[in-house]
Amino acid sequence: MSMCKTPAELEKMRRSGLAVQRVLRQVAAGAVPGATTWDLETLADAAIRGEGAQSAFRGYRGYPCVLCASVNDEIVHGIPSRKKLLREGDVVSLDCGVLLDGYYGDSALTVPVGDPARVPGPVRRLLAATQAALDAGIASARVGNYLGDISFAVQKKAEEEGFSVVREFVGHGIGTHLHEEPQVPNYGQPGAGRRLREGMVLCIEPMVNQGSPQVRLLEDGWTAVTSDGACSAHFEHTVAITRDGPWVLTRA
Ligand code: MF3
Ligand code: CO
Repeated sequence: MSMCKTPAELEKMRRSGLAVQRVLRQVAAGAVPGATTWDLETLADAAIRGEGAQSAFRGYRGYPCVLCASVNDEIVHGIPSRKKLLREGDVVSLDCGVLLDGYYGDSALTVPVGDPARVPGPVRRLLAATQAALDAGIASARVGNYLGDISFAVQKKAEEEGFSVVREFVGHGIGTHLHEEPQVPNYGQPGAGRRLREGMVLCIEPMVNQGSPQVRLLEDGWTAVTSDGACSAHFEHTVAITRDGPWVLTRA
């Protein structure tokens, strides 16, 4: 099966992408001190229905929720819980996917809870570096480049800023399935891997740690945390490769 989408398919994926972007904007507004990650799940669930879309995550390999909410040392796949209380100075990664008109959209961002000034300086820099690493990856998502160019750009930016990239989880192709070929690692060599072609749609999603890149899986079978307990950040966009350059489908 070809990984390349037609212009008509890209228009549909744009609609899915914008729906995800609006859902995440509403969820992020709910990330305030005293809220629980279950409150964020409730917001996401309502927002996805408001878009006339379905959740991409609930039921995927048995995942129970529409949102992944990963706080501080949680890297990805945090399961929303009524017991997980957000506090001033925390950071929370919000990861959400939808299915709309047969096509998937997937995006994530990490936001401060409450006043950004209450987040420790090094953690604020971690968030900025992870966002910059995603932007560097997006800038490399061009016809004629190689997959490794994206991976390398992400890794270089994150490590330049003094942080480490997680190896155990990777980005992915996306379309009529949430996860399609190819895998998009957040580390690699320029010029390596397959050539990027017009119509490919990739989820680029760096997970960047303050300390060691090492990961540990919690007993719930989903939540990935840093092995050293230091903070982690995660940003993701769904990006189409077009002849006019990268088209970030999940950005307004
Ligand atoms: N953005 C993540 C991914 O693309 C979220 C998957 S969560 C799951 O892999 F529940 F769907 F597995
Ligand atoms: Co993804």
